[in-house]
Amino acid sequence: MTNYGENPQLSYNKYLKVQQLIELQENLALPEKHDELLFIIIHQTFELWFKQILHELDATILYIRDRRIMRAVRNIGRVCEIEKILVNQFKILETMTPHDFLLFRQELKPASGFQSTQFREIEFLSGLKDEKLMQFFDEEFAIERLNKRFGAETLHDAYFGFLHNQGFAVDNFETRVESVIKIIRDIEQHSEEFALQEALIEHDELVSHWRFHHIKMVERTVGGKMGTGGSEGVGYLQTTLSKRFYPEFWEARTRLEIE
Ligand code: HEM
Repeated sequence: MTNYGENPQLSYNKYLKVQQLIELQENLALPEKHDELLFIIIHQTFELWFKQILHELDATILYIRDRRIMRAVRNIGRVCEIEKILVNQFKILETMTPHDFLLFRQELKPASGFQSTQFREIEFLSGLKDEKLMQFFDEEFAIERLNKRFGAETLHDAYFGFLHNQGFAVDNFETRVESVIKIIRDIEQHSEEFALQEALIEHDELVSHWRFHHIKMVERTVGGKMGTGGSEGVGYLQTTLSKRFYPEFWEARTRLEIE
């Protein structure tokens, strides 16, 4: 009997490249420190999920362009579920004591999460582009990826482009806030616009939760120490808490009144 499409060479380990995957964790500290493996695996899993988030958000932009709004909403829903897991993942790292971290922290300098290219890509793709951040990257693959993202359409552009095509005014911040208010006032009349807006504000809010939980985890582990990347640490991270992908959505809540 012919098994169409079956590959006798294939196995679980080959398909998922498990051998390569579990060889990718290299401790720096010698003699080996027990918690360094957890530290590496946590960061690698974050980066894998960041890759999946970028994959979903890239597809979302295409769906919005094609006016396939329910598809776009579902994709962002998946991103949000991943983000909830990522926020909780910090709890695993909090099982490492401040002292056990210090046993290998020195070896990490000057590496830092600040150099996470994919994290910046998520910010850029979502709608928050900050050219100043580009100067901190010097690896070729990172510069190439960030330059590409910097010039590309964002989810913010895609959402307000969609509203424009639906007849809403979107030419400046004020008119965009007014359009958001109109949608919130009559969600049945503007159900697709509202559903997409809700999905995006959830993504925005969950990234804020990520920032907050990261800071609390950092504080619990290293207190007010300077970061391995050279910043003042928690003090710097607190300045990022006010970052928003869709300021128009938040401003609309402030201005909304009953008609
Ligand atoms: C013990 C664990 C951790 C500590 C003590 C820590 C500490 C810090 C500090 C102090 C900064 C500020 C930059 C610097 O000077 O280094 C930073 C930035 C950052 N970290 Fe962590 N971190 C930890 C775990 C993680 C994990 C697991 C991730 C997941 C990818 C992560 C991602 C980031 C990102 C993306 C930034 C840049 C944030 C921004 O600029 O908005 N960190 N971290």
